Amino acid sequence: MCGIVGYVGKEKAAPILLDGLARLEYRGYDSAGVCVADGSELRVCKAKGRLQNLCGLCSDGETLPGKLGIGHTRWATHGEPNDINSHPHLSQNGKIALVHNGIIENYAELKAYLMKKGIHFVSDTDSEVVVQLLEYYYKRFDGDLMRAVYRVLATIEGAYALGIICADRPDEMIAARKDAPLLLGYGDGCSFIASDATAIIKYTREVSYMEDGEVAVLTADSIRVFDAHHEPIEKEHHTIDWEISAAEKGGYAHFMMKEIMEEPEAIRRTISPHVRDGKIFFEGLCLTQEMLREMSRLYIVACGSSYHVGMVCKYTFEKMLRIPVEVQLASEFRYCRPIVDDKTLVIIISQSGETLDTMAALREAKSLGARILSVVNVVGSSIARESDDVLYTWAGPEIAVATTKAYATQLILMDMIGLYFADLLQAIPKEAYSALVEELQTIPDKLERILDQKETIQYHASKYFNHSSVFFIGRNLDYALGLEGSLKLKEISYIHSESYASGELKHGTISLVEEGTLVLALSLYSPLLEKAVSNIVEVRSRGANVLALTTERDRKEISKNADGLIVVPDTMEMFLPSLGVLPLQLFAYYVALERGCDIDKPRNLAKSVTVE
Ligand code: F6R
Repeated sequence: MCGIVGYVGKEKAAPILLDGLARLEYRGYDSAGVCVADGSELRVCKAKGRLQNLCGLCSDGETLPGKLGIGHTRWATHGEPNDINSHPHLSQNGKIALVHNGIIENYAELKAYLMKKGIHFVSDTDSEVVVQLLEYYYKRFDGDLMRAVYRVLATIEGAYALGIICADRPDEMIAARKDAPLLLGYGDGCSFIASDATAIIKYTREVSYMEDGEVAVLTADSIRVFDAHHEPIEKEHHTIDWEISAAEKGGYAHFMMKEIMEEPEAIRRTISPHVRDGKIFFEGLCLTQEMLREMSRLYIVACGSSYHVGMVCKYTFEKMLRIPVEVQLASEFRYCRPIVDDKTLVIIISQSGETLDTMAALREAKSLGARILSVVNVVGSSIARESDDVLYTWAGPEIAVATTKAYATQLILMDMIGLYFADLLQAIPKEAYSALVEELQTIPDKLERILDQKETIQYHASKYFNHSSVFFIGRNLDYALGLEGSLKLKEISYIHSESYASGELKHGTISLVEEGTLVLALSLYSPLLEKAVSNIVEVRSRGANVLALTTERDRKEISKNADGLIVVPDTMEMFLPSLGVLPLQLFAYYVALERGCDIDKPRNLAKSVTVE
């Protein structure tokens, strides 16, 4: 969603801001803008649409002088995407400029109040209220900007990451956060703010993560941070441990393909720190064997693809652990009076660690007494910091909006968590546990074998890309996997697609199957092979084209009935979705490619969903 970058230093700010915004493009946006302090004048340049429109307007920053500035990519919530609603917003007298991520919930009431005082608004955004309120208090407090900032923060309600500059202070930038990510970057003779590290990693790896209620004052040579009571605080410094190349395409046409190709390595990186002598360890986990024994219920809470990981784990965890597993959409969790208490373990899954609904669900579960274990990709993110325990997926930065390697690492890490619990609870025989841990370590090599046949998948995509409606069907693990396959296809290729548990077909859906309908029949789960075959026969006899996904072991049986076949290596039941998802991601990619879609930045979508 929206992205923020800010710079104060000894170089010209505008080109640095535009470069930062280019690196934030992946988050999804519909307009962009920058504001620089040119002596005691603030100069704003903003444009609807792609960043190149903005770059064109200011000749790549050349026409904007000044060594202090803020930049923003906006994903519209309040007010349509247009030049005026884009950030940065200026206060009425043009002295204060602001960029904002998040939503100000009481903006309507504040706007009415300010309008009564004669303040004129130019945009339809909630964000403009913040900058107008700032000017109002700045004047009332005789130019005491920090006092005005604290007063504004005490008045606004909602979520925000703010970057502020003031014409009267051309050497200084102010930042504040509540419920929206913001980090501080320590450069050599310069300082930065950014909504994520990708924007500034070219210039510095040394960062601090702002916490809720904190306010920072940045100059070229210093960053001072204050708590909610304006008391100075020391921030811990962190070093970003990935290379800038991880956030670049590296010769691939799209980030999505690069990230798919990285899956075997990302999974190796996620597995290897935790496997020793045939056993799984999670050192540093506070969750003890006793706590686990007392747990009566397990919730898995997440959104989108992360939720689909949970759907797979419901099958694998319940079968192995024999404890009830509830999988809940984070956006529903806090509104459904969840049955959660101190005997509940809640596993939160999130790539970004910043998804607002997931964060809200975490807080709800915590307030009800649950223990929180989170599975997160972005180190130091809000979800990671608020959980009792956090385990990281080492997928590296994921730039394509559609998740691929993050989903793959989440799934494998969840499998490992399941196995770890099974070991602690002595839920499965030792031999079965050892065999599973051994098989786990073969998954990256098996994924490489699937990648070797990506041309076959490309061939199927070229055959079927023109279909306007696609059904994914499967039972058990295959059903859970189909949910992700279907989401991947629809989000990047814009083809309408649905995923059904095959057993449900006869209860209504089969009426949609007609001559030429494309059905992706997932049949990896061998115990239900016969039923999968009979469902394939059922849809084919109604005219469907069936592209089947199966294993080496069942290929013969399935190939007799399908029009096309994608085959993955054999593995143990638990790991079937880890192998099966890769061809589905590739299929979606190649279909979108054939249709000429904007694969890395699908319409209307954002990478990190920080609004409700
Ligand atoms: C789909 C996709 C989304 C995310 C969802 C949750 O390709 O990426 O469905 O999975 O927005 O995001 P995180 O995992 O960051 O909480």
